[in-house]
Amino acid sequence: MSRILFVCLGNICRSPTLEAVARVEFARAGLDVEVDSAGTADYHTGQPPDRRSIAAGAAHGYDLSVLRARQIVSADFTRFDRILAADRANLRDLERLRPERGAQPALFLGGAEVPDPYYGGAADFERVIALARQGMAALISQMRAAGP
Ligand code: 4NP
Repeated sequence: MSRILFVCLGNICRSPTLEAVARVEFARAGLDVEVDSAGTADYHTGQPPDRRSIAAGAAHGYDLSVLRARQIVSADFTRFDRILAADRANLRDLERLRPERGAQPALFLGGAEVPDPYYGGAADFERVIALARQGMAALISQMRAAGP
């Protein structure tokens, strides 16, 4: 089984959305993947996702309400096979935190970022859902091509 960790700054908007979308879409695709999410910062540790992220997810059938924020820990780099960052700032932080033999972090969208919706409006939260779905479809094709 593969294990994927999604990472953003606060773990209340983007990475919990990625986690919830991944759980549904990987199951739909018949892929056995363990997913989790974390933030590089600890501002929101223990808190549920932003209510705007919960609402945007629910509108598309993704339940974020049970998730609680946590900060990434060193052990995550050995527990997870893939550590996928929402944006380049988070990727740089992950590269700095990565222990010597840990998983090499990468951008979730490969060459693009999932923009931070925190100071934005409903359309920005909607965009996170669309990018999450798009990125997950790409990950699923990639994993299928790589074989079992
Ligand atoms: P996230 O969004 O990294 O997608 O969870 C943010 C959440 C909180 C803050 C910034 C971004 N903040 O500054 O508190």
